[in-house]
Amino acid sequence: MARNKIALIGAGNIGGVLAQEIAYRELGDVVLFDVVEGLPQGKALDIAEGAPIRGSDAKVLGTNRYEDIAGSNLVIITAGLARKPGMSRDDLLAKNLEIMKSVAQGVKQNAPAATVIVISNPLDAMVYTFKQISGFPKNRVVGMAGVLDSTRFRTFVAWELGVSVEDVTALVLGGHGDTMVPLPRYAQVAGIPVAKLLPSEKIAEISKRTQNAGGEVVNLLKTGSAFVSPATSAIEMAEAILKDKRRVLACACYLEGEYGVSGLYVGVPCVLGAGGVERVLEVQLDPDERKLFDASVEHVRSLIAQIKL
Ligand code: APR
Repeated sequence: MARNKIALIGAGNIGGVLAQEIAYRELGDVVLFDVVEGLPQGKALDIAEGAPIRGSDAKVLGTNRYEDIAGSNLVIITAGLARKPGMSRDDLLAKNLEIMKSVAQGVKQNAPAATVIVISNPLDAMVYTFKQISGFPKNRVVGMAGVLDSTRFRTFVAWELGVSVEDVTALVLGGHGDTMVPLPRYAQVAGIPVAKLLPSEKIAEISKRTQNAGGEVVNLLKTGSAFVSPATSAIEMAEAILKDKRRVLACACYLEGEYGVSGLYVGVPCVLGAGGVERVLEVQLDPDERKLFDASVEHVRSLIAQIKL
């Protein structure tokens, strides 16, 4: 059986963790691409030299040439600038838009059959840009946001209750920004609604911390943004696709009528398998949740209006 070939566009902080995790878990051979000379080659060599200890025979190639991604069945994009303290994800729009346009061309020309996971921020606008420029079908272009926002919520709930993170599930929808919508009503601990275990003020605090969680890390790191949890979140999506697991995960999906939204990428629960986004699941939102969701959608719409694609 041929191995999976996974191309990582961007060999910075997130790209490096992705390459390491994918190679050491033998999810497939890795091609790590960046425009900076030496960076992807250096990271690839470093990872390859640790592989004997991890028992991994996955190949890791670092490159500055798009041709090397040919034949990839999965592409994960982290190319672009990351936030510094004081910046919102939206402040990255102008610079990352130009980068994403060139990346979309490179992927379209060299890996036209791939399924693509976009991580670059502002996420909902970047994944939209990729789809518009590449012309790839909507099921093969998905954004990583909800998995990360949900894992942050899960972490805080587990800490608060002193229980295993494994037993906490959560759902965060909407755009991947300050307007994201945590849905505590759909969060559970081993099937028990979180509202039965925590007071509403505590749940509101956890929702707020989740919304600001990316910024909290940026303020501590000062030189960049979170990279381990975003990479790990994308790996969960990659595994669902590569192993055709049909995982139900919150992802940025292109909506055509679902949730009353058309022509935008917004975070919603979906079924992720070999066909990429195989189905969007529509969950019922109560009036307050709906209001927050609509506000988040409007925010995404205003960003998309700025990029004129
Ligand atoms: N093609 C490929 N790679 C590029 C391009 C391009 N046109 N332009 C920039 N890059 C590379 C940079 O050289 C850098 O190595 O993208 C990489 C980004 O890495 P970091 O700055 O370390 O950023 P990272 O933390 O990995 O985040 C990447 O994901 O979560 C988002 O907001 C974050 O937009 C940011 C992206």
